[in-house]
Amino acid sequence: MKSQGFDTIVIGGGAAGLFCASRIAAKGMQVLVLERANKVARKVLMSGGGRCNFTNMMVEPDNYLSANPHFCISALNRYTQWDFVGLVGDYEIPYHEKTLGQLFCDRSAKDIVNLLLAECEQGAVRIRTQCNITDVNYGGEHSGDYQVSTDQGLFHSPVLVVASGGLSIPSMGVTGLGYELAQQFGMSVLPQRAGLVPFTLGGELKTLAANLSGLSTEVVLANERASFSESLLFTHRGLSGPVALQLSSYWHPGETVELNLLPRLEVQDWLRQQKQQRPKTLLRTLVAEHLPRNLVMALEQYHWSGLAERPLADWSHQQLDAAAQALSAWALTPAGTEGYRTAEVTLGGVDTDGLSSKTMESRSQSGLFFIGEVVDVTGHLGGYNFQWAWSSAVACAEAVGGLYRRS
Ligand code: FDA
Repeated sequence: MKSQGFDTIVIGGGAAGLFCASRIAAKGMQVLVLERANKVARKVLMSGGGRCNFTNMMVEPDNYLSANPHFCISALNRYTQWDFVGLVGDYEIPYHEKTLGQLFCDRSAKDIVNLLLAECEQGAVRIRTQCNITDVNYGGEHSGDYQVSTDQGLFHSPVLVVASGGLSIPSMGVTGLGYELAQQFGMSVLPQRAGLVPFTLGGELKTLAANLSGLSTEVVLANERASFSESLLFTHRGLSGPVALQLSSYWHPGETVELNLLPRLEVQDWLRQQKQQRPKTLLRTLVAEHLPRNLVMALEQYHWSGLAERPLADWSHQQLDAAAQALSAWALTPAGTEGYRTAEVTLGGVDTDGLSSKTMESRSQSGLFFIGEVVDVTGHLGGYNFQWAWSSAVACAEAVGGLYRRS
């Protein structure tokens, strides 16, 4: 079978792959995108609850996890959130800030998918969906080229961009091809795990959460690595909401997390003061001034059921301090997380040690690039992951354009 040649082949038609393909094509190169699913950009479409949180106004390297925390800096600085916001403006896509700098489409994530497709169309990017890649090789018949064998034919090009994403939401047909290719070409790949994912609870805690399912409240959730102040959502299985998703990326199985349900109060001082000022009051009455009643009743049953009907005057300092601890520094051990089934991202991936932070090109294999989520760079919740997809895509495209100009 005859192999068809391109200037660049991009594996994966997601956020990073499409954006990169369009930017390379804009430099006059012939680009082919190979996508395994029946449609491109499916995660973009489902993102942000269907409204796509496409970037964040406050992008900082601290918003990213990676074995090398400095790796993301160069790409994020060269193609910033404001660059992407400018592009969204060019397409007259209406958007708004929801909270904490997070920018969402007013209408639908389809607006961002249409932007990506329009950019690809302008550069006549060829996109093949439902394309199964069976083999990737370097050299051979077309020396200096990558040969990609698929069930839709053979393709070759001197540049191969791997943008195959992570492992989250297996029902979308995700694959580990990106990690396999990195290893095939002698690069190291760091272990992967689910990130931005709800916690599951076991035993009595699970029952407590299930009884409160649907209730949300502003909290601080922390461990020794990170601390987040956002809302917590109780679910049938455990803890979700932005604060739980954020901390999950910093959590390892078996570890404890600390929950502060009253982050605006110095709880110990407040309780001691209230005992003096309102000695006849029940603890639940006090706490219900700051937390939803259902939650207070559940906490009472879990933490201080023996003292439930005793006025504060009857509580010893020690008992009151224990209640303060339960309310402001509750040490919980999640049973686990919901895993890739519901995770928004995959932590770990292609080791950044093997990549140039300026170009995303492999240090050991010329013409081979990795961008987006397949790389060991994972953002916080809030539009940071798409910004990484855009920024790493542009870093790669600029470098590929440079190669083209020289050839
Ligand atoms: P992405 O996963 O987008 O694309 C990879 C592509 O490669 C896919 O189309 C896949 O089918 C394809 N592929 C995989 N294996 C292949 C193979 N063997 N051959 C060919 N193609 C292959 N982030 C954010 O910043 N704001 C948000 O609002 C959200 N919301 C959100 C919601 C949900 C439910 C999820 C699961 C995730 C988010 N995210 C997010 C995260 C965001 O979707 C993610 O970080 C980016 O899509 C990553 O972009 P990539 O292009 O790297 O991977």
